[in-house]
Amino acid sequence: MDFIGANILSVSQFERADIERVFDVADAMTPYAKREKVTRVLEGAILGNMFMEPSTRTRLSFGAAFNLLGGTVRETVGITASAMAKGESLYDTARVLSGYSDVICMRHPQEGSVAEFAAASRVPVVNGGDGANEHPTQALLDLYTIRKELAAHGRTLDDFRIAMIGDLKHGRTVHSLCKLLCLFGKVQVVLVSPPELTMPEGVVEKLRAIGHDVTVTDQLETSITDVDIVYSTRIQEERFASQEEANLYRGRFRLNREIFTRNAQPNTVIMHPLPRDSRAEANELDTDLNEHPSLAIFRQTDNGLLVRMALFALLLGVENQVDMYAREV
Ligand code: CP
Repeated sequence: MDFIGANILSVSQFERADIERVFDVADAMTPYAKREKVTRVLEGAILGNMFMEPSTRTRLSFGAAFNLLGGTVRETVGITASAMAKGESLYDTARVLSGYSDVICMRHPQEGSVAEFAAASRVPVVNGGDGANEHPTQALLDLYTIRKELAAHGRTLDDFRIAMIGDLKHGRTVHSLCKLLCLFGKVQVVLVSPPELTMPEGVVEKLRAIGHDVTVTDQLETSITDVDIVYSTRIQEERFASQEEANLYRGRFRLNREIFTRNAQPNTVIMHPLPRDSRAEANELDTDLNEHPSLAIFRQTDNGLLVRMALFALLLGVENQVDMYAREV
């Protein structure tokens, strides 16, 4: 694909070569993310960050990534802080904000809303999560993390096993990740959820259609015995009709050190898109795993910075100029 000026709305727009291009540029961003080098390649450029739903890492890592490339960030956080609270449309908001920005990142609770916004924008728009639909940059950073973690054990994205656990119906990160897995060779996917919260059938069909081996189960312990990656997710309580309904499922799958050690292989890697729900009634990924070397959740968040820096550089066509505007620290 031609990255320059493109919107990033869905992982479906990527070919395998595009993913590898993003990952190569992300690798090259490492000294800048570690502040070993400083670049001003995006000096004068403005990121418009529009976050209409809560976020910690997506919003802040988009902002930090843009700053690390030398650009400036302007933010609107929460619908009540925007003129959308007065009935302004996505169309008008996009027309206005794209006059103030070089690129826009947006999160919104409605499925398809970011695509509608992008259609009216005069600058590239990156989807930071649209309802239960997609979270393409999270899927890219997840896949980048899986690639790095597998490489540490001499493995590749073309032959590995992953168990995805939790609210697979509403979890946009697992929807996007499954679609990306369809670009790779031979993946065994174990989908672990309550029967009411299974992965959408269309996503499962895509995985099976390209030859991946998919198992659907509601058993946690037997599902993690023979996998390379355990990808835990939160019950997405904000997507349920009521808190009471969400509470039926919170705490259903709890991964802790004892269960992990008893069932998983020593090299199995634990991932989670975060936030994890640390309240006692949920606790899907226990803090007693915090110091476990298999826990990759903070390696994931660090990788998110690299992948988002890479995307900005590619969308704005400066990926080959980063070093020209750089100095050692
Ligand atoms: N993973 C993720 O999207 O986190 P935030 O909701 O904090 O952005």
